[in-house]
Amino acid sequence: MTAADLVLHGARLLTMAPLRDERPRVGPAAGDVGAVMDGFVAAREGAIVATGRGNAHETVERVDGAVDVDVAGRVVMPGFVDPHTHLCYAGERWEEFATRRSGADYLAVLAAGGGIHATVRATREATDDQLLTLLMRRIGDAAELGTTTIEVKSGYGLEPDEELRQLRLLARAKADAPIDVAVTYLAAHALPAPYTDDRRRFIREVTKAVETVANESLAEAVDAFVEKGVFDVDDVRPLFAAAKKAGLAVTMHADQLNDVGASAFAARIRARSADHVAHASADGLRALAQADVPVVLLPGSAFFVGYAPPEARRFIAAHVPVALATDHNPGTSPLEGMPTAIALGVTLCGLTPHEAIVAATINAAHALGRGDRTGALVPGRRADIVVLESNDERELAYRMGAPLVAEVYAAGKRVA
Ligand code: NIG
Ligand code: FE
Repeated sequence: MTAADLVLHGARLLTMAPLRDERPRVGPAAGDVGAVMDGFVAAREGAIVATGRGNAHETVERVDGAVDVDVAGRVVMPGFVDPHTHLCYAGERWEEFATRRSGADYLAVLAAGGGIHATVRATREATDDQLLTLLMRRIGDAAELGTTTIEVKSGYGLEPDEELRQLRLLARAKADAPIDVAVTYLAAHALPAPYTDDRRRFIREVTKAVETVANESLAEAVDAFVEKGVFDVDDVRPLFAAAKKAGLAVTMHADQLNDVGASAFAARIRARSADHVAHASADGLRALAQADVPVVLLPGSAFFVGYAPPEARRFIAAHVPVALATDHNPGTSPLEGMPTAIALGVTLCGLTPHEAIVAATINAAHALGRGDRTGALVPGRRADIVVLESNDERELAYRMGAPLVAEVYAAGKRVA
């Protein structure tokens, strides 16, 4: 008998169990949720120990004080993985949001010293305590909406000293958070004014900071905004080379608003993921598929900025692994929670509901290099589990904004 301190049974269980190997799901398998009817999942000390059918009384022994719940046919699935957020910021951008919706161009606002720079000013002015409070509140909000693993980027400091301050605050947030936090150093998000005439010098300085980030284990990955008029592929090459050399993963904002060849570049350097990719070329797609690099689609930013969203069918047809994220940030995507990202992934990007759910769980885990640790209900993985207030998971894609997340367990612990 297996001993367990948490058993959820009577479920429509979505296991996302690996199909042949520990790879992200692609092509015809991209919507395979591994459903088991009348299923159970059992966990002990934060890890899943068994799954199967029935109430598991013959095979799973409940330890004293175990939580044992009959979920009465509701959906039990892996906690959501949000592989792309910018939660570390202060201030809001209501004014810019309004002007952009009436025609102002996102990159023009940025070039004029607004946009990202406005948030940089507000974030620099915030004290450590204020920023930490904001971070913890946002991580808590995401957890309540079912996220059990979240990536959080720095990026509103720009100059290395301020970026390092924010990364150290992120380390404190990670230590206290009820869910797993994957920290990313967004080293090249915008060019700060003092460097206007010397972008090479800026890149040299952020590249140097990568060493400190790696030595102090302040981040798992390095990111850059590779976009027309921001940073091009040649600009970021030395930055990413240094990241790889330091043992950090590499990810990028690739071809979000224009095709600048960033998707093919991401494939070439074996990035952990290529994100946005709304304007990725056919060559870029082929390269990503060949290198098995997941794309992270961010429909929130397409929705709020109003540009053409990434066409998911192109990626599915090309067998590129597809993940979804909120891209939560004050500029392009004030989106909260993965259920809304799932709904937009379906309505805007053309994923099927099941593809979107795979993209928000196991494939998103792969996009964070955690494909063998979370994102699936399989023995040995962290007990990151969501119970839906529904017996059909497709409702997530359909009833946008509905309170469908009934219970959340992160590493076996109920998140309030
Ligand atoms: O993912 N595009 C670059 N970075 C963010 C937006 C940052 C901002 O506007 O504050 C994004 O869309
Ligand atoms: Fe982003």
